[in-house]
Amino acid sequence: MRIPLFSWLFLILIYYVSLSVHVFVVSSQCPSDQKSLLLQLKNSLKFDSTSSKKLVKWNNGSDYCYWEGVSCKDGCVSHLDLSSESISGGLDNSSALFDLRHIENLNLAYNNFNNIQIPSKFNKLNDLSYLNLSNAGFVGQIPIEISHLIRLVTLDLSTFCYFPGTPSLQLENPNLNVLLGNLSELVELHLDGVNISAHGAQWCQAISSSLPKLRVLSLSTSNISGPFDSSLLNVSSREKRGLG
Ligand SMILES: *[C@@H]1O[C@H](CO)[C@@H](O)[C@H](O)[C@H]1NC(C)=O
Ligand SMILES: *[C@@H]1O[C@H](CO)[C@@H](O)[C@H](O)[C@H]1NC(C)=O
Ligand SMILES: *[C@@H]1O[C@H](CO)[C@@H](O)[C@H](O)[C@H]1NC(C)=O
Ligand SMILES: *[C@@H]1O[C@H](CO)[C@@H](O)[C@H](O)[C@H]1NC(C)=O
Ligand SMILES: *[C@@H]1O[C@H](CO)[C@@H](O)[C@H](O)[C@H]1NC(C)=O
Ligand SMILES: *[C@@H]1O[C@H](CO)[C@@H](O)[C@H](O)[C@H]1NC(C)=O
Ligand SMILES: *[C@@H]1O[C@H](CO)[C@@H](O)[C@H](O)[C@H]1NC(C)=O
Repeated sequence: MRIPLFSWLFLILIYYVSLSVHVFVVSSQCPSDQKSLLLQLKNSLKFDSTSSKKLVKWNNGSDYCYWEGVSCKDGCVSHLDLSSESISGGLDNSSALFDLRHIENLNLAYNNFNNIQIPSKFNKLNDLSYLNLSNAGFVGQIPIEISHLIRLVTLDLSTFCYFPGTPSLQLENPNLNVLLGNLSELVELHLDGVNISAHGAQWCQAISSSLPKLRVLSLSTSNISGPFDSSLLNVSSREKRGLG
């Protein structure tokens, strides 16, 4: 059978057209309207537009999957990096952020959320495997809902410029054991500057019994005390820094 060249070209054209239609269909498959959620989030956050490099550029006209700080899987926002965006408020339990249900990777580090508690609605983001709220101005008791994020591989709640007497994040109720109890996928945990107030045996046990995969642990100025329990020896050959 001979097929003239122009027919082949026609078939190839059809193939590309159907391929791009397919790609288009896949990228618009996300069940909720990601773009309007992102725009709602932008409108609710207080940020300094002169120093913002990402939020300030988000605009309705373009493809949200290519906005600064955003990336997608199958049209759903999967990565959101709003670190160092001079955000000074506007995040609460009703934030549109918590309707972006497919986020796996969220970074809000180096902002100033003005001494509010970590909103408990973070538990709606139960695909999170990376959560970075370091140096973001959150204070007070870490909500129990963080312990429901059982896919977390990296959790960073550290604050470095910690001065005694200033408000800090607190792990009392829930305490460290309860927070970590179900976070068995954790590989990296940073709680520098969090007021943990646990004795050696307690926090060492919490870490060694709940976190079999832990490799990086950082707990400077977190008001934990020794003695280092022997259960931590099981964390051997893992990286330990900033203990104490
Ligand atoms: C974005 O653009 C669409 C279509 O032009 C419009 O319907 C929608 O209201 C706009 N949304 C915002 C938040 O401006
Ligand atoms: C979020 O809601 C919980 C109760 O569901 C409340 O205790 C908490 O203060 C709220 N957090 C913020 C930051 O509004
Ligand atoms: C958290 O984000 C900050 C700012 O991007 C970065 O410096 C830090 O390394 C991150 N922490 C982790 C554990 O990735
Ligand atoms: C951990 O998971 C178990 C089983 O789902 C549940 O019963 C328990 O309440 C969870 N613990 C925390 C602290 O969420
Ligand atoms: C740390 O927590 C303890 C109670 O658990 C409290 O007495 C102390 O004032 C807290 N420290 C800071 C700096 O908030
Ligand atoms: C450390 O924890 C102890 C016991 O909970 C508490 O009494 C003390 O005030 C805490 N110290 C600081 C600096 O927070
Ligand atoms: C270390 O882990 C092993 C196996 O999980 C366990 O049998 C042992 O008791 C642990 N050692 C300590 C000191 O906790």
